[in-house]
Amino acid sequence: MKISEKLEKVREYENAMGARIAEEDRPAFHLSSRVGWMNDPNGFSFYQGKYHLFYQYYPYNTVWGPCHWGHAVSSDLIRWEYLPAALAPDEEYDRDGCFSGSAVELPDGRQMLIYTGVLKKEMEDGTVRDLQRQCLAFGDGLDYEKYEGNPILDVEDLPENCSPYEFRDPKIWVGEDGVYRMVACCATLNRDAKIVLFQSADGVCWSKGKLLIQNFDRFGKVWECPDFFRMEDKWVLLTSPMDMLPEGFEYHNGNGTLCLIGDYDAASGTFIPQHDQTIDYGIDFYATQTILSPDGRRIMIAWMQNWDTTPGYRLDPTSWFGQMTIPRELSIREGRLYQWPVRELEQIRRDRVCYENVYVNGEMELDGIRGRCIDMEIELKSADPEHPYQKFVIKFAAGGRYYTMLSYHPDDSIMKIDRKFSGSRRAIIHQRRAEVPSLNGAVKIRLILDRYSAEAFINEGAQTLTANLYTDMEAERITFSAQGAVSMNLVKYSLV
Ligand code: FRU
Repeated sequence: MKISEKLEKVREYENAMGARIAEEDRPAFHLSSRVGWMNDPNGFSFYQGKYHLFYQYYPYNTVWGPCHWGHAVSSDLIRWEYLPAALAPDEEYDRDGCFSGSAVELPDGRQMLIYTGVLKKEMEDGTVRDLQRQCLAFGDGLDYEKYEGNPILDVEDLPENCSPYEFRDPKIWVGEDGVYRMVACCATLNRDAKIVLFQSADGVCWSKGKLLIQNFDRFGKVWECPDFFRMEDKWVLLTSPMDMLPEGFEYHNGNGTLCLIGDYDAASGTFIPQHDQTIDYGIDFYATQTILSPDGRRIMIAWMQNWDTTPGYRLDPTSWFGQMTIPRELSIREGRLYQWPVRELEQIRRDRVCYENVYVNGEMELDGIRGRCIDMEIELKSADPEHPYQKFVIKFAAGGRYYTMLSYHPDDSIMKIDRKFSGSRRAIIHQRRAEVPSLNGAVKIRLILDRYSAEAFINEGAQTLTANLYTDMEAERITFSAQGAVSMNLVKYSLV
């Protein structure tokens, strides 16, 4: 297969520079960029016995730059092995970036990648805009050759009133009827989001797109990285809207995430949502992508970062920036999206420590409960039902001047994550709140820590709060405190 000079250079660079980053300076079981910058997960797929995960990648610096596709594989979704970068912006039609996309296996055994080719175009008034068109590449799980017919879809293939500058992030799947389908992000010229659905018999020739749903200014502006799938008897649209306005505790300003659950009306070809919610209520979570695993689980992964919180974290351009969340199994319960860490995570649990009915008021620590790579489940309730507690706090990654905390106020059902004292040196968002109704007076928290991140799964995954940490690795204490008296059960494992 012919590899361009540009891709060859990237592969040499990442090989040499990636090896200079010590294992201990990366997350232990979350995928981080091999070197340089990472954003969205791309091409999440199961191919020839392995999970493949590609990602938006600019190896030459720790800030966003012309997008390549980085590449990694895993047999268990937990331990990732880097493969050479898969795509570089090396053609005339994608010279300003190979933006986000997805992957599928073809009947002849090849893997097909579909991505957005970006080409900067100067307008009459001198401004420059990104022309976005969809492109293909075919490969064997290691090397990929771009299709000679690229680009395969452009603005002509969109319904009326769609902008050629907001047409990206194709997500492909093969239906039970063997037909290839794909959703992509589109928008009107004033950036009102539209999701367009395409069909194809072979994955190469596509019919003109049909409008699946339009935003009409309800949830932010352009909806990036859409994903559309059936789960149980419902259809789910996951997307990451830009420029959101806040709404109670459900949606926050800026880049957010959105889950719509509803019905697909085959007659009109439109999606009719019945329920909306944020996907993750924490700070660093964006650009989800899902797959159906061989055993039938719908698994989601996301960029564990948010555009609004990227500035100025790791400034050494030869280091890494950007990591993925833990892959999460999805389900629908009572019309709501639930998330739970993939069960494969349990295989790396070690050293179980368990406590029952611990009486918490004031601040306390527990023997054996510390660490920065842990999986811990706690369950709280009032120690005395006659006298409900007012507040419960768990501080972690604590030590010296550092801690990050989760706090819960049962009176107003608010769970807060606060990483103000995590070591961040920037005026970015450090706190966020979610509404968390208790389960018959009890609250369950599963907390996954992996060196530079915290992911909290609340009440069996009804809400999640995800955040990056900037904390020195020595800060590994965990404390519990309450106003009023709490009775706590706890199970904790180290993750190795
Ligand atoms: C989302 C996004 C996508 C785009 C990519 C570019 O984070 O803006 O819409 O394809 O990042 O890197």
